[in-house]
Amino acid sequence: MEVNKIMVIGAGQMGTGIAQVFAEAEFDVILYDLEEEIVKKGLNKIAKSFHRQVEKGKMTAARKEEVIKNISTSTLLQSAKNADLIIEAVIENIAVKSKVFKELDKTAPEHTILASNTSSLSITEIASATNRPEKVIGMHFMNPVPVMKLVEIIRGLETADIVYEVIEELTKKLNKVPVEVNDYPGFVSNRILMPMINEAIYTLFEGVATKEAIDEVMKLGMNHPMGPLTLADFIGLDTCLYIMETLHSGFGDDKYRPCPLLRKYVKAGRLGRKSGRGFYTYT
Ligand code: 3HC
Repeated sequence: MEVNKIMVIGAGQMGTGIAQVFAEAEFDVILYDLEEEIVKKGLNKIAKSFHRQVEKGKMTAARKEEVIKNISTSTLLQSAKNADLIIEAVIENIAVKSKVFKELDKTAPEHTILASNTSSLSITEIASATNRPEKVIGMHFMNPVPVMKLVEIIRGLETADIVYEVIEELTKKLNKVPVEVNDYPGFVSNRILMPMINEAIYTLFEGVATKEAIDEVMKLGMNHPMGPLTLADFIGLDTCLYIMETLHSGFGDDKYRPCPLLRKYVKAGRLGRKSGRGFYTYT
């Protein structure tokens, strides 16, 4: 199973980060999204990120030009015909992801591995939308993708050992660290991270301390790079809520109940950094 050509479905925050790291590792990347404008914006974001590296002296201008050439863009799902590995990074919605996988299964060659960057949804359920569940796997990158070392690799019920091994090796080629986990709501990363963030929001909701104080306690007291409320804004409050709901329904335990304040902010459109306002305001 040789993997040379990668297709990334979704040119949002995670999709562009994933395309960037594969391009830097000399893979041919097709960045796909529904509209031309979205893929162009995604490619621009990647170019800017390379440009910052050039400015910092971490990449030469010539190398930047070389690496960016590794990425082509597409708005046609038929481009899947040319991919050895497809990584889906669309919104966290099981119906949308299942539809995408069903389409990809029809179009992609038989050998193609279909991976999902889902942060909490069942790989087994996503795989059931295809006729190749043994070639479906979770490849959960962390945000910001170019910086974070971890890739959580999730085995679905039917994922073949050889597919796991190929993805594990590939992750190492990206200079990242693969960690194997089983398919369970939130896997390991978000099962532990999200209840901490949710608890920080309850702490604010119950008036125990200000948002700045809560973040300061966790930053300075636990050596976290960001306080939990800053991190929630960074991830996106809609994403945090969605993952908490997946944990809550998946485990059926009230300890995963999303904080009402989180729901309120999402309803108000205060989604964090991406909307300009969450717990904090961004200009
Ligand atoms: N893209 C590329 N590079 C970036 C970047 C981005 N979006 N953001 C920061 N960087 C780079 C900077 O260029 C800098 O690189 P350099 O050392 O080569 O100069 C380096 O990262 C450090 O950045 P800064 O100096 O600007 O800022 P910080 O030192 O504060 O680091 C941070 C920023 C890396 C984001 C750090 O605050 C951090 O690690 N935060 C926690 C991130 C985290 O927990 N992510 C996981 C979220 S959960 C998740 O993704 C799962 C999902 O399912 C919800």
